[in-house]
Amino acid sequence: MSLPESSSRVADIRPFRVMQVLARARELEAAGRHLVHMEIGEPDFATAPPVVAAGREALQQGLTHYSPAPGLPQLRQAIADYYRDQRGVSVAPSRIVVTTGASGALQLALGLILDPGQTLLVTDPGYPCYRNFALFLGARAHTLPVTAVAGWQPDVHSVASAMTDDTRALLLASPANPTGAVIPAAELERLASCLAARQSWLVVDEIYHGLSYTGALPSALNAGDNVIVVDSFSKYFGMTGWRIGWLVLPESLVEAADRVQQNLSICAPVPAQHAALAALGSDAMAIHEQRREAFCARRDVLLPGLRELGFSIPVTPAGAFYLYADCAALSDNSEVLARDLLEEAGVAITPGADFGDHRAGQHVRFAYTTGLEAIDDGLERMRRFLRAGGG
Ligand SMILES: Cc1ncc(COP(=O)(O)O)c(C=O)c1O
Repeated sequence: MSLPESSSRVADIRPFRVMQVLARARELEAAGRHLVHMEIGEPDFATAPPVVAAGREALQQGLTHYSPAPGLPQLRQAIADYYRDQRGVSVAPSRIVVTTGASGALQLALGLILDPGQTLLVTDPGYPCYRNFALFLGARAHTLPVTAVAGWQPDVHSVASAMTDDTRALLLASPANPTGAVIPAAELERLASCLAARQSWLVVDEIYHGLSYTGALPSALNAGDNVIVVDSFSKYFGMTGWRIGWLVLPESLVEAADRVQQNLSICAPVPAQHAALAALGSDAMAIHEQRREAFCARRDVLLPGLRELGFSIPVTPAGAFYLYADCAALSDNSEVLARDLLEEAGVAITPGADFGDHRAGQHVRFAYTTGLEAIDDGLERMRRFLRAGGG
């Protein structure tokens, strides 16, 4: 007798192609190949020592019980202080909900604002999970194609013309994955007021906010009252595996967020919340800043190196740790190019198809989440591969 089937909604959830690239890379490595990894979207640095020490201390002290659903009060306060000191905006700690990474924050935020059948606007290319979160809630995702010439971010005209009576929110990331593009503050304000006029939300994923190479970025919270911000300790704070993120909500959604969070996850992992508190301390912040500078130095080597090889990257990305490169001059199929670079040159990258459909076949993503030496090695391997007629 066969088992009952899974729900119909899971049929629509696409897998992450980058995980397949990673799995194949691991297979090749197990067979003895040496590879350069530029597919992985997480810092190569281990979590900063003061953060690890705080996590260990929390475990040793037995701080292993549940916290209140929206998070430890001292962590919510520290996040509010961080907004005041680094992001130029005053946020009451009561508006902050600590979650299991930005992923938990996104699921909670979208669950609070989307009803089945309603539409979420997302960019193409964009972070692939956004669409899937909407589908999982029985909502729809409508993609807005964004281009390099327009700075890889949506503008108010394209958003206004894509909106229908069912549109409930626009979700974008700044700096973005896969492009590293930052949206100008003035455009965010225009978007927030355009959406507010139609009773819709602007959700901004600021997970890469700390990784800005053009100076501190103002938070999207300044853009309007209908703005919801998602953030995380994963990237700038180097804590991907600890699973701590947060959400900044308007007061009107706080009580509902508390209720939903109690039911869905009770609270975010508590020893990791104690570690996250230390991540905002001055010792750890000094380390995070050094790492940000290291990422910037890597970008400044990889970007000209890729351009020299024939990849087109018209705009220098201002943040995150990604370069989204047009490879049309080298190949007419980015999936084939990514596969051949992995199999033949030993360089793992992600094909554009992971991030949407819009000109995905002519783009690939490079993540500079590996050291300068490996980046030089990767560039040299690609040079040899292309010279030998690859691509
Ligand atoms: C834009 C964006 N948002 C959210 C996430 C998920 O992050 P977290 O580890 O905090 O759940 C990622 C991870 O790559 C991301 O790139």
